[in-house]
Amino acid sequence: MTETAAAREWDAQVEFAQRQHRRVFRDEDESDHWSGLVSSFRPPPDAGSEDPVIGYLRSVLRKDSILLDVGAGAGRLAVPAASLCGGVIALEPSPAMSAELNSQIAHRGIENISVVSSQWEEWAEEPVDVVLMSHVLYGAAPIAPFVRKAVEVARECVVAVLGLSPPGDYYHPLWQSVRGEDRVTAPSAREFERLLESWEYVPEIIELPGIAARSFRDREEAITRSARRLRVRLGTPAHDELEKAVDLALVASQDGTCHFRWRQPSASLLFRWPNSND
Ligand SMILES: C[S@@+](CC[C@H](N)C(=O)[O-])C[C@H]1O[C@@H](n2cnc3c(N)ncnc32)[C@H](O)[C@@H]1O
Repeated sequence: MTETAAAREWDAQVEFAQRQHRRVFRDEDESDHWSGLVSSFRPPPDAGSEDPVIGYLRSVLRKDSILLDVGAGAGRLAVPAASLCGGVIALEPSPAMSAELNSQIAHRGIENISVVSSQWEEWAEEPVDVVLMSHVLYGAAPIAPFVRKAVEVARECVVAVLGLSPPGDYYHPLWQSVRGEDRVTAPSAREFERLLESWEYVPEIIELPGIAARSFRDREEAITRSARRLRVRLGTPAHDELEKAVDLALVASQDGTCHFRWRQPSASLLFRWPNSND
């Protein structure tokens, strides 16, 4: 896995998006920017519907497999995956995410997940059977060593999941009105596909069903969530602009909730390599 043109383009796009992030959010508290997003990455209730990634992992994991979940969040996938295999190492650097993951583990009495508070780049390698990287690659740069490490530690395969649209893109159309510029987007599934191609991998690729972007209970919830995403504080001129932009964007849903008029179901691609047919 070398510095191909696709890898250089990926790194440049990540750097471009991160540079904008640092410039625009420079005065903000950067201690744990995942803390406001914990609720989106919690595992479903035990009897809840099964995520398609878990459905896929059923065909990959054996009862004694060890799964490494890189950037496990609050355990959205690590928790249900633990019942399919011998053990899960859940790598999660965000204190807010790992606190919620530990609380989910304790609450459900799970004994085969070990939570490790570390960045992937700093994790002391140990061999595992399967490496899962779900919605964690968008900000990874340099991408070549990040992916190479997964390939090196996985005895069987690497499974990566990325959206066809970059993360947070539901809120990006608000940027122009509130921040005075368009949001630079991170690379996503198609760029990752080109990357694997450039390294001559032939992955199995599965399109996962699109999930409708969230509905808001009402205008207040739409404003609160948008303000959190764009890091806009109540009582500032930017918040006034945000309210105006949200009012222009909101449309009523048939069930009494509301959503932004540009809402589209967001599909993801699942990549698995080596391919099961290799
Ligand atoms: C969008 S969440 C995805 C969580 C989970 N994988 C899922 O699909 O629900 C991304 C997570 O990756 C973690 N993360 C980001 N960069 C990371 C890195 N370099 N090493 C390990 N984890 C990372 C973040 O802390 C965050 O919890």
